[in-house]
Amino acid sequence: MDKLLITGGRRLSGAVRVSAAKNAVLPLFAASVLTEEPVVIRGVPAISDALCMAQILRELGAEVTFTGGDVTIDSASSCSHEIPPSLTRELRSSVFMLGSLLTRFRRALIAYPGGCDIGLRPIDMHLSALRRLGVGIDEHDGYIFCKCDMLKGAEIVLDFPSVGATENVMLAAVMAEGRTVLRGAAREPEIVDLENFLNAMGAKIRGAGSDVIEIEGVGKLKGVTYAPMKDRIEAGTYLIMAAVCGGEVETQGVSPENLGLLLHKLRENGCKIGAKNDKIRIESTGKLRCNRCIETMPFPGFPTDLQAQAAALNCGAEGCALIEENLFETRFKYVPELRKMGADIQVKGRTALIRGVPRLHGASLLAGDLRGAAALVVAALGAEGESEVLDLSHLDRGYEDLPHKLKKLGAKIARVRV
Ligand code: UD1
Repeated sequence: MDKLLITGGRRLSGAVRVSAAKNAVLPLFAASVLTEEPVVIRGVPAISDALCMAQILRELGAEVTFTGGDVTIDSASSCSHEIPPSLTRELRSSVFMLGSLLTRFRRALIAYPGGCDIGLRPIDMHLSALRRLGVGIDEHDGYIFCKCDMLKGAEIVLDFPSVGATENVMLAAVMAEGRTVLRGAAREPEIVDLENFLNAMGAKIRGAGSDVIEIEGVGKLKGVTYAPMKDRIEAGTYLIMAAVCGGEVETQGVSPENLGLLLHKLRENGCKIGAKNDKIRIESTGKLRCNRCIETMPFPGFPTDLQAQAAALNCGAEGCALIEENLFETRFKYVPELRKMGADIQVKGRTALIRGVPRLHGASLLAGDLRGAAALVVAALGAEGESEVLDLSHLDRGYEDLPHKLKKLGAKIARVRV
């Protein structure tokens, strides 16, 4: 097992080339099962979630080849509709396979999906939407068995704009008979990316990015070569790191519209932000003011996937911040680790009250989930002295080459064998 050694207090400067978005790439892997022609996904980041999704596709009989950063998926010989529980439990995104397996085989058998331990994460909305499309669902002993004679377009309303449920409906309805109208859809940019990908394969989908998505079922989908969007959460994480350390950093590849509320919050912290096309530039003195309040919300609200990193920023800023987590129940698990560094945080239910301290100090930190791990790195970069971050399996799920990218910006960071 590896760990990170970080010496805090270095200014950051330079440019970060942002990798393709984890949350865009994973549904595309699932969508590749919808055609028997080869699909090429360009610039897939070297993160363990992508490897895990590739393994799922191989278990189904597909050929998956990684060449440089490109991944070619040939599902012509896919024949299985069953995903082994060991893989489903590793990765939340395995749930997308329900929609695409149903489209391809009219059947799907998966164990309840895993992923980060950040809350209950039920999939009731996924299942009730699939039922609306004509799917019969049997749940027992931790398994979900879905079956249908045919998928039939329908009117579907989501009670809450779930990203995963929206994407699953798109994957199940894309070749269903007739038209599906999904209301209350999630509006995340990664959903627009999935729409673009499916339409490039020959689908007829419109409305992604708004709360009504219309899907006209088509008879066949073809292979495609596609470059997914870049990772707004990765970009946001580096901007927060630059804010904490002080310096001048530019992220490349992510449009400022996809990070609107974070940029607003960073200005509130006292940073200067400039943006042009897909470049975002931050200038920070490292002396920050707390945000009064950060409330996580579905897009375009403040992303829950940046909540932990923003909290870490506020720990060493001046004043008090109230952080409200509205998406997941247990997304403050990183708090005890930040307290080891001298952070003053009180958690009550969905809210955390942070009283900024002049400086955090280095400590030995144990990561517990992907974004929580990123928050520990943020805090360690800004802290006095050396920190170690243990259990990098979480960070490896979603951040490509993080130590290297940070080193290039001037951070003192090393990945070492424990
Ligand atoms: C996706 C992202 C994740 C991000 C989250 C919210 C991927 C691979 N993951 O996760 O990084 O943190 O969006 O932006 O894209 N819910 C239900 N029933 C359901 C489905 C969801 O109650 O059937 C609830 C969840 O518990 C949560 C909320 O809806 O409270 C939002 O979850 P959702 O948008 O579905 O998140 P994911 O798709 O799992």
